[in-house]
Parts: sequence; C-alpha cells; structure tokens
Amino acid sequence: MKKIILYILVFGTTISAALADEGMWLPQLLQTLNEKQMKKLGMKISAEDIYSISKSSLKDAIVSFGGFCTAEVISDKGLLLTNHHCGFDAVQNHSSVENNLIQNGFWAYKKEQELQNQGLFVTFIERIEEVTKEMLAGVTPGMTEKERQSQIDKNISELKKNYRKENFEDILIKPFFDGNKYFLFVTKTFKDIRLVGAPPAAIGNYGKDTDNWMWPRHTGDFSMFRIYADKNNNPASFSPDNVPYKPKRSLKISLDGMQEGDFTMVFGFPGATKEYLSAAAVKQIMTVNDPAKINIRAKALEVLNGFMRKDEKIKIQYAAKYASIENAYKKWQGEVLGLHSKNAVEKKTDYENLFTQRINANETWKNKYGNLLPDLKASYTSIEPYGYARDYFNEIFPRIELLVIASDMNSLVAAYDKDENAYTKRKQEVLEKLEETFKEYDATVDKRMFETLMELYTKDQQAEYVSPVFRQLLDGNQQSYASVANDLYGKTLFTDLAKIKNLLSGNAADVINSIKTDAAFNLYSDMVTTYTGKVSPKLNELQAGINKLQRSYMEAQMEVFKEKSFYPDANSTLRVTYGNVKGYRPRDAVQYDFYTYLDGVMEKYKPGDYEFDLPKKLIELYQKKDFGAYGVKGRQPVCFIASNHTTGGNSGSPALDAYGNLIGLNFDRVWEGTMSDINYDPDICRNIMVDIRYVLFIIDKYAEAKNLIAELNLVHPKKTTSKK
Ligand code: ARG
Ligand code: GLU
Repeated sequence: MKKIILYILVFGTTISAALADEGMWLPQLLQTLNEKQMKKLGMKISAEDIYSISKSSLKDAIVSFGGFCTAEVISDKGLLLTNHHCGFDAVQNHSSVENNLIQNGFWAYKKEQELQNQGLFVTFIERIEEVTKEMLAGVTPGMTEKERQSQIDKNISELKKNYRKENFEDILIKPFFDGNKYFLFVTKTFKDIRLVGAPPAAIGNYGKDTDNWMWPRHTGDFSMFRIYADKNNNPASFSPDNVPYKPKRSLKISLDGMQEGDFTMVFGFPGATKEYLSAAAVKQIMTVNDPAKINIRAKALEVLNGFMRKDEKIKIQYAAKYASIENAYKKWQGEVLGLHSKNAVEKKTDYENLFTQRINANETWKNKYGNLLPDLKASYTSIEPYGYARDYFNEIFPRIELLVIASDMNSLVAAYDKDENAYTKRKQEVLEKLEETFKEYDATVDKRMFETLMELYTKDQQAEYVSPVFRQLLDGNQQSYASVANDLYGKTLFTDLAKIKNLLSGNAADVINSIKTDAAFNLYSDMVTTYTGKVSPKLNELQAGINKLQRSYMEAQMEVFKEKSFYPDANSTLRVTYGNVKGYRPRDAVQYDFYTYLDGVMEKYKPGDYEFDLPKKLIELYQKKDFGAYGVKGRQPVCFIASNHTTGGNSGSPALDAYGNLIGLNFDRVWEGTMSDINYDPDICRNIMVDIRYVLFIIDKYAEAKNLIAELNLVHPKKTTSKK
C-alpha cells in the first residue's frame, strides 16, 4: 500500500507536470480543458475567441492546405500564408530551366499575374460535433475489427444521409483516441487557389537539408496564395470569372515581436502522432522500424544527390522528391536519438508499472484490463518480422519509379478484366498521370536507384520475402545488380512516355497482351504477389489485433489516470497547441538561444554553395541595414522557437501571440526533439517558426510587393497603437 502511494506521488507529479506544454488540443474543448491553464501561461483572449460556433473566431482564418499542410487567411481578399515547402510543389510545377521560379522566386504585383494550380485546394472547418454515440451504435465488444468497421461505415453513411448542411459543405467523420470517440466536421473546400508569391529557394529553403530539422535556423520558409470564389463567395472550380474570397475572419499581424517566456499558440492540422503506445511498441520503432527506413533512405538519397548536384535539369525534376525523402529520413534519426536520450522506453515502462499497480488494486479493472499489456507485448513480438518486411516494401517500391509505372499499367489490366468501358476510362487517367510522372523522371537516375535498392531488397530481407523472379534475373546475370538493371531497363517499354503512348494506342486486347509480356511488368507482378502472399495477410491480421488492444489500452489509460487530461493523437484534424517562447539545452553544457537574426544568415553564407548561397539583393539590404519597420535596434529577426507541441502537417500553421495576432509561421521542429510524436519532453521539444517580421521584410524590401503589404492588417499590440 505504501509503495502504491509512493508511486502515485512520484508518477502523479510527472504525469501532470508533463502537461505544461504537451498536447494537441481539440479547439471545441478548450473552454472545458485548457482555458484556465492558457490564461495562466499568459493568454489574453478567451477560448470562445479561438473557437466559436455562434460568432466569427480565429478558427475561421485557418485552413488545411491541400490536405498536407496548414495555411491562414491574412487579408480580407483571401490572401493565404503558408510555408515555402508547402507551396513548393506549385512553384516547381510553374518552373523550367528557362523560367526557374524555384531559383528566382515569384511575385504577383497584380491579381492578373497570380498563377492557377491544378488540384490544389484549401479546407475551412465550419463546426465540430461529437458523434461517438451515433458511430458506436450496434458495435459490440465481441466483434472482429472488420465487423466493427463495417458497422461504423454503415453508421457513417446513415448519419451523412440525414445530416443537414449546405450543398457547398462537406462532412468528415473521424475516430479519436484509437476509436474510443468520434467527431464530425462540417467543412468547406475551395478549389481555385492561386500562387501569389514565393521567395527564391535560397531564402525560402535556405540551408536546405543541412539545416532542415535544425536549430539555430535561418530559413524564410513562406509562400503566399489566394483563395478565389464564385460571385456568391462560395467554392467553385477554377474560372477566370472567379473573384478573391471574402473571409469571415483574417488574422491581424503583430509587428511587436516576442520575448522569451511570452505565450504562444499554434493553430493547425497536425498529421499523426503516437503518444499512447506501450513500451514494447516504442522499443520496436526505435530499434527495428526507424533504423530500417533510415538505412534505405540513406542509399536512395545518395543516388539522387549524385545526379542532382551535377545536372540542373535533374535538380529541378527531382527537387520535391528529394526533399520529401530527406525530410523523414532526418526526422527518424532525430527521433531515435531523442527516444534514447530521454529514456522513452524506461519512462513508458514506469508508467505501465503504475498502470498495473492501479488495475491490480481494482477487481473490475483487473478483469477487464489485466491482460492488455502482456498481450500487446506478445503481439509486437509476433508482428516484428512482418513489420520489417512492410517497411522494406514500402520504402523501396515507390522509390523505383519503373515499378510505380508498372503498377499504373497493372491498373489497366485490372480495368480490362472488368469491362471495356472501365478500360477506356482508366486509359485516359493513366495517360494523364504519366504525363505528369515523366516531367519528373529520368531513366538513368531510376536505373541507378533500381540497382541500389534492389540489392538491399535482396540482401537485407528473409529469403522468402524476396521475389523469385528477381532471383532468377540475378542468376541469369552472374548475381550482378547492375547487369540486371541494364538488361531490364533496356528491354522494358515503360521508361519512355512516347513508347508507352505508342503501346497504348493499339486495340485493348493487344495492349493488355503487350503490358503483360513486358519485362518490368513481370517483375512488378512477382514482387507484389510475393508481398501480398507472404507478408500482408499475416501483417494485417496481427495489426488488427494490435489496433483492438490499443483501443482498449487507450480506454484503460483514460479510466485509470483520471487526474490527467488526455488529448487525442494527431489525425490531420484541427488542433490548438500552446506554450512559451524559450530556448533549450540540446546537450551537456550547450544552451540555445530562442532567436536568430539576419546576421546569422550572413554567417552561414557560402557564395555559390548548393545550400548556403544567397541572392545579391538580400546581402545588399543587410549591408544597408534597410529593414524598414521590421528590424529591431538595427537587426532583422529571422526565426524563433517555443515549446508548442507540433508535428508534420503543422507546417504553415500560424504562431499567435497572447491576443491571437500572427507573430510567426510554424515550419519545423528541433532535431533533438522530433521524438515528440511518440514521447514529448518539455526539456528539448521545440517548434521552429519564422518571425512574421522576416516574412514582411522579404515581401516589402526584397520583393517590393507593396501591393501585398497594403492588404495586411499590421498592429502593435504591445504599444497599443495600430498602423491601420
Ligand atoms: N522539416 C520540415 C517539415 O517536416 C521542412 C521540410 C522541408 N525542407 C526540406 N529541406 N526538406 O516538413
Ligand atoms: N515541416 C513540418 C511540416 O511539413 C513541420 C515540422 C514538424 O514535423 O513538426 O508539417
């Protein structure tokens, strides 16, 4: 008994102390769960100012940008601010060697110059409602995961049928807390989103991969877009007749900056976290899955780097792919490092011991939850080899574009098996897709990638997971991966768009026949069959079991640790996170400041360098100290950090001050703290933001886009005088 009390004392305090900065909170629950603490930390507005269903609130200025980032409305003409890396795809699509917007930047000085972006959309959240009861109607504990999901799917379509909404609104229903709760979102999606501005990559992606995930940081990671609507201010697909959207709310922008300790919050769409895993699960990520993925990506990056640094065209073609491979690669490395350095597994184990103590002291809990942790542990042991094989497949397959193209071809075969109509329709879609694929494709690069990654595929995996067809190819080529690659890329028609078009121009039966006899198709099919035969059935079965256990474990944690406020794992829904501006100590004897300046940009400057070159004009502005209203005592602030708990998807999210004014743009986290997706630690987890005054300086002084500055609502909350 004494021991239990001691445990409660010790762990009780760690549990609540960890809450100071941790958490991605649901905006509609702030009033109940967080408002008091937010005010204590310095917030000057109310929860109702952040999220309200009866009046306009800050949430009306926040959008999901393309489903993968966040953006915010900063003018009453629908001007949007997001990160450079979020808008990068759009910038890349408008770029060529002759007109390289990645390198030169882009600015629309008039609305007519703004550029259309096919497929890009932004989504507003109109309101949020809990629908747990409706979703779990008819669900029983004895159901398999499949039965449960099909009951829920039925409930979803039932609810959607009867739900009252405007016809330009959509409904989204998502599980929270591993399926213990459900919330419904009424959303509004705009599809005419035009590019307004982006700095040169030398500013917007300054420091590239060397600086990515790093502090101190000096990147001006922003770009601007504009929402267009029809004449009634409603969503519409692209049309020259569309007009700038008049938003319900746009953010005011503070010119006053921030001090260490100031309250900040970040409002956006974090993608995915796993904060409530068991120790066994965390250990597996750290020692098996992350290392496997890191290893494969290191090799893939080496291949791309070799080509991109030598060839300007390939550099543009592969820029987005490279950035996205590199990004998670580096993040996982930081994650492993942080999980080790902060003893995440030991902490989880202590927490589990306390959990076990508590349930053992309660007969009902003991019966209901007594086997959970041992079962989870056993399940993770069983899934390990399958998870490893999944990582290998998922990491290697999409990197070899020949295989991806073969899978597009396979979709034609599948459509043909259905009927002619499906085939004709699919053919059109595949041709359109390949048109895009080949803009960013180089067969020499791909061949090298194949050669390199197929060696890992063969050597690092259990023999039974390796495609027998590939083994035969090796046998026929003296076990040389290079010679298999030469042979295959020589024979296949899939590496050349003209050849594919020619192939697809025949009658359907001939086309299907040629696809099926292509060498690459043959290998592709066998790799997929090997995987879906040997790995996925068992993997899916074990994963379903884990999901079910994890759902109970989540429920149990909420029941057993009543003193703790729980936030749901990130799932790309709208969240608020808050904390304070502060530095950190990454290692023994090292203390990081919370701010960087343009001086630091200049310190890193290496003329002509691949990552640290700078535009001449920026250097001149620096030398003249021409910072306009955006400098402080002769220095130009650039980036800052705070203890907000963010993750991927929070990129482009507004950083707001105590009054809800925009002070910065979230774009990254510090490397030592990327394990916050699994185990947040207030000592070293920091989010990185670009200071809004650096953004304004670049727009105003560097780009001289006075037209954009004129749209903004700039304020001085600390001086309580406003400019406009
Ligand atoms: N690390 C940031 C994020 O997770 C920025 C990524 C873009 N920059 C890059 N060099 N890949 O998205
Ligand atoms: N750069 C990330 C993004 O694209 C944000 C950094 C993070 O993972 O926190 O969302």
